[in-house]
Amino acid sequence: MNEEAIEHCSPVLRQAQHLVVFTGAGVSAESGIPTFRDALTGLWALHDPMDLATPAAFERDPALVWGWYESRRLQLQGKEPNPAHHALANLASQVPRLTLITQNVDDLHERAGSTGVIHLHGDLQSPRCSVCAAPYAAAAELDLATTAQADGGRMTPPHCSQCNSPIRPGVVWFGESLPEHALQSAFEAAGRCDLLLSVGTSGVVQPAALIPDVAAQQGAYVIHINPEPNHGQYPEATHIQGRAGQILPELVARAFG
Ligand code: OAD
Repeated sequence: MNEEAIEHCSPVLRQAQHLVVFTGAGVSAESGIPTFRDALTGLWALHDPMDLATPAAFERDPALVWGWYESRRLQLQGKEPNPAHHALANLASQVPRLTLITQNVDDLHERAGSTGVIHLHGDLQSPRCSVCAAPYAAAAELDLATTAQADGGRMTPPHCSQCNSPIRPGVVWFGESLPEHALQSAFEAAGRCDLLLSVGTSGVVQPAALIPDVAAQQGAYVIHINPEPNHGQYPEATHIQGRAGQILPELVARAFG
């Protein structure tokens, strides 16, 4: 089945003029980073997002929220890009134009060599002031000081050097708008591409989940890579069932090898 789907999709990839790749937590799963909604191991299966990922949660208990994101940021430093990230980085030199849009807050695409990555949901490495939005320049210095305490536990956030308000994680929370420039660039690319490859996303968080639809409506070919069978969110798309770290290198090798 996969064989058939890969065989079918490889010429489509080879001929693409503008490829948009849209990734979710599943692309980093094989690097040992938990997804959000996988049963048992997903972050939102273990924690209530309303306690950790909303502006109200941060106001209510900044130490809980900051500590949780710091533990994720520190955990990320021990992880490496997997074959899916590397295959996507290699693709950039094979297709005339590639736009990589991610919902992920990790930096594994960049560490694999991808450039110009559009981070729709922000990123763990860019904490900023919760009031004046000034970037928190001392992020790197946090590491040594906080490793011992950041084990998923509470941690008082540092304060902004400009206005003395608490520093917050650089991610988008539920109820917040997406970064405007990223959102605009992502939807523009989706509206202009001829192939959209969606990798490792449940496709349930808006407005990001609209991106494959926008591409399809403009006539682009849409391919989904996911170990789960096609869940029906995107009925018009081709579905390749399997792990990104296995399917992507195979698809790229078949298209360009
Ligand atoms: P989800 O956890 O909702 O979905 C992850 C998807 O990856 C599921 O469909 C899995 O089947 C699939 N998956 C698991 N392992 C995989 C593998 N090895 N290869 C390929 N796919 C695999 O994560 P997202 O769709 O990214 O928002 O979630 C969207 C947003 O919800 C996140 O960006 C986050 C969360 O709340 C913010 O942080 C703002």
